[in-house]
Amino acid sequence: MRDAQPKAIQLADYQAPAYEVTDTHLKFELNDGYTQVHSVLTLKQVGDGNELVLNGQDLELLSIRLDGNELTTDDYVLGDETLTLSGLGASHTLEISTQIYPEKNTALEGLYRSGGMYCTQCEAEGFRRITYYPDRPDVMSVFTTEIIADAEQFPVLLSNGNPVSEKTEDGKKHVVWHDPHKKPAYLFALVAGDLQVRDDHFTTCSGREVLLRIFVEPQNVDKTEYALDALKRSMRWDEEVYGREYDLDIFMIVAVDDFNMGAMENKGLNIFNSSCVLANPATATDAAYQRIEAIVAHEYFHNWSGNRVTCRDWFQLSLKEGFTVFRDACFSADMNSSTVKRIEDASMLRTVQFAEDGGPMAHPVQPDSYIEISNFYTVTIYEKGAEIVRMLHKILGAEGFRKGSDLYFERHDGQAVTINDFVQAMEDANGVDLSQFRLWYKQSGTPVVEVLTQYDHAAERLTINLRQSTPDTPGQTNKKPLWIPVQLGFIAHSGEDIEVRPDQPDFWTEESQVLHFREAEQTFSFGGVIEEPVVSLFRDFSAPVRINYQHSQSALRFMLQHDSDGFNRWDAGQQLMLHWIELAEKGRFKLVKEDIAALHSVISDESLDPAMVAYLLALPSEAYIAETRKSYDPVAIHNGREQVLSEVAEALIEDFKACYERLNVPAEYQPAPADMARRSLKNLALSYWARASSDGIEAAKAQFKSADNMTDQMAALRVLVTCADQAEAQEALNAFYEQWKHDSLVVNQWLTVQCGSSRLGSPDHIEKMLEHEAFDWRNPNKVRSVIGAFANQALCHFHSENGRGYRLLADAVIRLNASNPQIASRLLTPLTRWKRLVPSQSHLMKAELQRIMDSGSLSKDVYEVVSKSLV
Ligand code: PHE
Ligand code: ZN
Repeated sequence: MRDAQPKAIQLADYQAPAYEVTDTHLKFELNDGYTQVHSVLTLKQVGDGNELVLNGQDLELLSIRLDGNELTTDDYVLGDETLTLSGLGASHTLEISTQIYPEKNTALEGLYRSGGMYCTQCEAEGFRRITYYPDRPDVMSVFTTEIIADAEQFPVLLSNGNPVSEKTEDGKKHVVWHDPHKKPAYLFALVAGDLQVRDDHFTTCSGREVLLRIFVEPQNVDKTEYALDALKRSMRWDEEVYGREYDLDIFMIVAVDDFNMGAMENKGLNIFNSSCVLANPATATDAAYQRIEAIVAHEYFHNWSGNRVTCRDWFQLSLKEGFTVFRDACFSADMNSSTVKRIEDASMLRTVQFAEDGGPMAHPVQPDSYIEISNFYTVTIYEKGAEIVRMLHKILGAEGFRKGSDLYFERHDGQAVTINDFVQAMEDANGVDLSQFRLWYKQSGTPVVEVLTQYDHAAERLTINLRQSTPDTPGQTNKKPLWIPVQLGFIAHSGEDIEVRPDQPDFWTEESQVLHFREAEQTFSFGGVIEEPVVSLFRDFSAPVRINYQHSQSALRFMLQHDSDGFNRWDAGQQLMLHWIELAEKGRFKLVKEDIAALHSVISDESLDPAMVAYLLALPSEAYIAETRKSYDPVAIHNGREQVLSEVAEALIEDFKACYERLNVPAEYQPAPADMARRSLKNLALSYWARASSDGIEAAKAQFKSADNMTDQMAALRVLVTCADQAEAQEALNAFYEQWKHDSLVVNQWLTVQCGSSRLGSPDHIEKMLEHEAFDWRNPNKVRSVIGAFANQALCHFHSENGRGYRLLADAVIRLNASNPQIASRLLTPLTRWKRLVPSQSHLMKAELQRIMDSGSLSKDVYEVVSKSLV
């Protein structure tokens, strides 16, 4: 909490530390109600100056000794959040004791209590809530950790690295852990609890045995199999694709219920939000299985991209996050359908990241200033950062990219480095100049590419004229042209790709077919094109840009049926449907027979991957539709989209019914790609069928009752919530709750399906759910399931005309500002979009932002987002 206005931290002010901590010894005494932390730091002067600045927040300082001598308040300066020692020499031993109160820690940063266990979260700046320490990623140290706790209550005591010793004395358990790899404090972790473990083994490529352990609360042991399996596949994949081997004898994962984010890559001891690691067929949906696979891989991959090579400062966050998201996306693509994974990722980027880029919190992938670093764990840093790495991969090719990553890991192992070091390694390994490419990291905003194509039949020549520009964003104007890889293909009337080669073949290869668009305006021409083709641009979503190119309706229908690039095939359908929805909003929509024929050909093509068919037939989300408009009316979008849904459902009712019946075969649940694909199409067909007929509703009811897995049960419940009459919907919800009220992760899904529903998720209903026995303000997953689902999914209720939705969200933000600032700040994102709404809504939203601003003492987290949004 603060009174004065907090100051922004600037990248330009970076200074290397004067002292290194070569060794860090920590002793934790966990007592009921309070914990004491004793540290012994070995200091060595490595830079200019003789001053040591330690960070500390909400700590009680018990004692401090330098080289054995107790210091008094005259010997150091205790600031608000720092402890500074000056006049130091070349090397010292510093001992500090602090007392902290994990039981009272509701921010879930530092050491805190979650249910019956203690756990930590130190990234980005949580370690300073444990003890005074140079809490910055460029100070890397070898940690030894001793933990002392009640032996009966906390039989499991964990920290990073390898176990060294263990004993029990006078009812207290003592354990010591040692991590031989030096690391910054943000990768420190400690867990204490009465946990059950499931073990497995992995033999690395060089033949070392690694013990794999997942620790969970006893009732969850039957939900650990899939994460372990995903972990082993990740370990193998990183060896095969990046040549990276695991480097300790033990790798541990712990599941905790109260966690602000998805998971954390602490060295050798990953801590997971239980929703991102626990699954069994009865309780977890296919989407949850896929999320678990991706996040387990992501955290594991951080062992190299993040831990062995870490960030010099937090402005470099995308160095580890963008690269690691790229790595986990490739892993998921290899494990499942790469096209479907690409569709999911690009669709998320275009919806959420483009919105961030167009709003008040827009920032470059390498920001140059921040007030609170927690606010910068964003889709821009993560997902746009991953897109930049993907473009490098496209430009350099798989082999060149691997040469670059090998050089990067070899050159910087054990160091804290910058994004520039990463790009430099790519450059040096490939002998290519990436100076212009670096702009992707520095310029914020989504580039817009205008495309004109011209075909000259007589000359058999096709020209493509491209123009790029990037809109102004807060603090940035007059942007320079970027290096944009444009992957493309020409489709002949037959539906086949035409072989082409541009007159300017820089970097062009037959397989990759990428144009390198690097100036504000450029024209590329292709000779020997004997018929006028349909031009398929930005295949595979080859760059994170908005494209302005008007395909005709018939060209879009043609691409939806024939484009050999799965991503563009899907996108053609999306563009077509966007057009339908726009017409519907104007009261002018009617599905024509060509549209019906195109959809029919997709649904009846049994040679296609069913997961792909499900995506091809799904309408763009309301959030994405909004994102394609300069200003939008959420209620109009909702109504237009509903009308199109209903018309498609009615026009193809027989197809959907047949598809459902064909795919609704009894089969034992498997979280395998082919089974997941079948279920996704089956459930999509059900959602359309139930919209158009009572037989479909009956089928949904039957599926809801008989399902033996959560994917099918939840899909049926969602259909009933959306299409059945209110009484039936409520009846299904009640039955579901009775069946699952003992399982908190399932209850979260139950909360989400109703609070995110454009049918049920009214402000009245949300208020009722906030009073429900299943709700808990202290648990971030519960807050996300109710308020997050409401504000991000039930858009027509959130944007209700009287502004009640906004008030409800602002009240939640004000309340959480005091207890959990990170969650408060994330939750308020939908309000930051106020400028994009129609004026009547927009002023109501702004008023709520102002009310938050005036509500008293704001955390840095909330202050930063609200103040930037009000500009
Ligand atoms: N570093 C974590 C990840 O990307 C995310 C995280 C950030 C978790 C901050 C907790 C706190 O895997
Ligand atoms: Zn990460």
